[in-house]
Amino acid sequence: MGIRKLKENIFSVGVNHWDRRLFDELIPLPDGTSYNSYLIFGDKQTVLIDTVDPAVKDELFSNLSQFERFKIDFVISLHSEQDHSGSIPFVLEKFPEAKVITNEKCKELLMEHLSIPQDKFVLVKDGETFDIGGKTLQFIFTPWVHWPETMSAYLKEDEILFSCDFFGSHLAVSSLYEKNKSKLEESAKRYFAEIMAPFRSFIRANLKKLDGIEIKLIAPSHGPIHDEPKFIIDLYRNWSSDEVKNEVLLLYVSMHGSTKILADALISSIIDKGITVHPFNMVNADLGEIAIRSVDAATIILMTPTVLTGPHPVAAYYTIFLNAIKPKAMHFVVVTSYGWGGIAPDWIKSHMSSFKGEFLDPVQVKGLPKNLDILRMKELAEKVLDKHKTLGIV
Ligand code: FEO
Repeated sequence: MGIRKLKENIFSVGVNHWDRRLFDELIPLPDGTSYNSYLIFGDKQTVLIDTVDPAVKDELFSNLSQFERFKIDFVISLHSEQDHSGSIPFVLEKFPEAKVITNEKCKELLMEHLSIPQDKFVLVKDGETFDIGGKTLQFIFTPWVHWPETMSAYLKEDEILFSCDFFGSHLAVSSLYEKNKSKLEESAKRYFAEIMAPFRSFIRANLKKLDGIEIKLIAPSHGPIHDEPKFIIDLYRNWSSDEVKNEVLLLYVSMHGSTKILADALISSIIDKGITVHPFNMVNADLGEIAIRSVDAATIILMTPTVLTGPHPVAAYYTIFLNAIKPKAMHFVVVTSYGWGGIAPDWIKSHMSSFKGEFLDPVQVKGLPKNLDILRMKELAEKVLDKHKTLGIV
């Protein structure tokens, strides 16, 4: 990615990981990602805000070596997850005098994960400022975006908020900014849905904390910088709200075609009712796209055949995933196809313990769907419409 200047004495020195295609061995990265690291020269000291994933640390050091003033006094660690902190030990090795500025919780985690010794840390409290000479950083604790220790740093003189994962996106681009707003929104929403959504109430509280702060740029730790902060802040306000839309997220898997027949019938019936439906065959779906659609959908429908008395393992996988990302949907329905019995609906319900909405009665269909079963799909669509009307979103 090379060095990019944000403002006088402020540089982006992070690295694009163009060809990374999976994060946490779970999250698809269709557009790669970046690990953003920022170098700020004060009159007295130089700070590096976050580092990069150790896999690409050489590129970080290559960027840093291009500066005449190749010395770092402090590394600010906003978040201890290794894609940002993993190269801190290498920075400390290169600059033995450097200290790590972070908060107490982050220090604990950095010591656990990276074995950084205790005497390397300078601790800051929420709201505290740190002056490096003509540049003042204020630390704003923004917990649970998406770890408990995450904080932001606000550079007062330049009105830049370094927000770490908050407002980030897995999107590798060649410039500092992404002018294609719909692309930026999609990537940021994907990122929000995958890791931020479970912490919506914290997100709302953190957004409130930013009220009244003049922000010209938001510089996250992944993806493009936001030169229109209001754009991403408004999106976050919307995504983290309790608002749902007249949409259904419909997930299915079919072994011998019966569940597919039901899914097709249900999709048509939902469309007939004027509801937007987002169907995914879970076998080959992009987990991130499912996550995106879970942000707004008022209803989630999970359709699975019965395998060895329970849900198909792919449906079980997505049940666990949905339970983890805590969608704000108000209704959840299970539709199963079975041969001689099974407990798929009970299993799914018991593994969706984080779901706070209403479980509608499951629909269970024996064998190849008959006309009566197709009618039951129409009735289910009607029921979903009624529920959406009750929510006032139709
Ligand atoms: Fe990008 Fe939570 O680390």
